[in-house]
Amino acid sequence: MNILVTGGAGYIGSHVVKSLFEAGYNVVTLDNLEKGHREAVLGGEFIKGDLKDRELLDSIMKDYEIDGVIHLAAHSLVGESMENPGKYYKNNVSNGLNLLEAMVDNDVKYLVFSSTAAVYGEPREVPITEDHPTAPTNTYGESKLFFEKMMKRYDEIYGLKYVSLRYFNAAGADLSGKIGEDHDPETHLIPIVLQKALGLRDKLYIFGNDYPTRDGTCIRDYIHVNDLADAHVLAIEGLTRGLESRIYNLGNGEGYSVKEVIETASRVIGKPIEAGVGDRRPGDPAVLVASSDKIKEELGWDPQYPDLETIIETAWQWHKRGGFNENE
Ligand code: UFG
Repeated sequence: MNILVTGGAGYIGSHVVKSLFEAGYNVVTLDNLEKGHREAVLGGEFIKGDLKDRELLDSIMKDYEIDGVIHLAAHSLVGESMENPGKYYKNNVSNGLNLLEAMVDNDVKYLVFSSTAAVYGEPREVPITEDHPTAPTNTYGESKLFFEKMMKRYDEIYGLKYVSLRYFNAAGADLSGKIGEDHDPETHLIPIVLQKALGLRDKLYIFGNDYPTRDGTCIRDYIHVNDLADAHVLAIEGLTRGLESRIYNLGNGEGYSVKEVIETASRVIGKPIEAGVGDRRPGDPAVLVASSDKIKEELGWDPQYPDLETIIETAWQWHKRGGFNENE
C-alpha cells in the first residue's frame, strides 16, 4: 500500500510518517520545508515540493502508484490567520483543492485529513462530540472546515472516501528522541513552558486568569503525538477496508488548565517554573475537551500515553536533549 503524506516533515506529520512506516506502508512524504524539518522524515521517500504545484502532485500519484493520501500540509497559526486570512484560504483551501483534484484525476480514493478542534469555536458543551455545531472563531479553523466540506462533496460526487481527524492539543515527542516539536516561532504552551525551564526563554505568561474555569485559566485536552499518529494509521486501514467517510475527534477527554500544565511540568522536571499573568489571547475558547468515544468504538483507537505527566515527560526528554540541534 503506497501512501502520500503531505506535510510529513512537520511536527505531527513526522510522527505519522514513522507510524505508517512501522506499520509496513510505503510512504512518500511531500513537504515544502517552509516549517518542516528534512531530518524529521525517518522513512520512505522524501520530495520537496508544494501543493500548489499540480503537475508535481500528478506525477507523484502516477510514479509512486499512490493508493491513499494523508494530508497534513497547512498553515496552522491561529493568530496569524486573523492577521493574514488570505494566506490561510490560499494554502489550506485553494492549494488543498489542487490535491483533491489530483486525487480524482489519478483515481486515488482514500484521504485522511488533519483537521482541528478550532472548527467548533467556543463550544456550547463539553466534552465535544463530532455532531457539535461548527462555528470557527478564526480563519485557521474556518479554512479547515472548508476543506472538510469540499471532501464531503467529493465523496458525494466522485466517491472519494475520507476520514477527518479533528485534533485537540497535540503534545509530547516520540520516545526514540529523534523527532519532536520544533516550531519557529513557537506558540504552543508545553514547549514554551519547557523552553522557559531550560532558560531558553526569558518570560512565560499565562494568557488570562479570569476565564470561567476552576482556576481562571484556559482548559485544554492534551493528546500525545504518537497516539495521534496511530489514529492516522487506523483511519487509512479503515478506509481501505471499506469504512464510509467519517469525522473523528482526537483527545483524551480530560482537560487541564494552563496553571495545571505549568505545575505538572514543574513536577516532571523537579524545579519550579515561574510564570507571569498576561492578557487573554484573542480567539481562545475557555474550555476545549474532546469526546473521542466514536473513534475508540469504531476503529478501536486505544491511546497509549493518555496522562499529562507522561506527555510532558516525553516532550521534556526531547527538549532537554536539544531537539533537532542535538541530532544534527
Ligand atoms: N498559553 C499561555 N501562554 C503561552 C502559550 C499558550 O497561557 O505562552 C495558553 C493559551 O492561551 C491556551 C493554552 O495555553 O489557553 C494552550 O495554547 P496552545 O497555543 O498550546 O494551543 P491552542 O489550544 O491555542 O491551539 C491548539 C492548536 C491549534 C488549534 C487549537 C484549537 O495548536 O492548531 O488548539 O483551538 F487551532
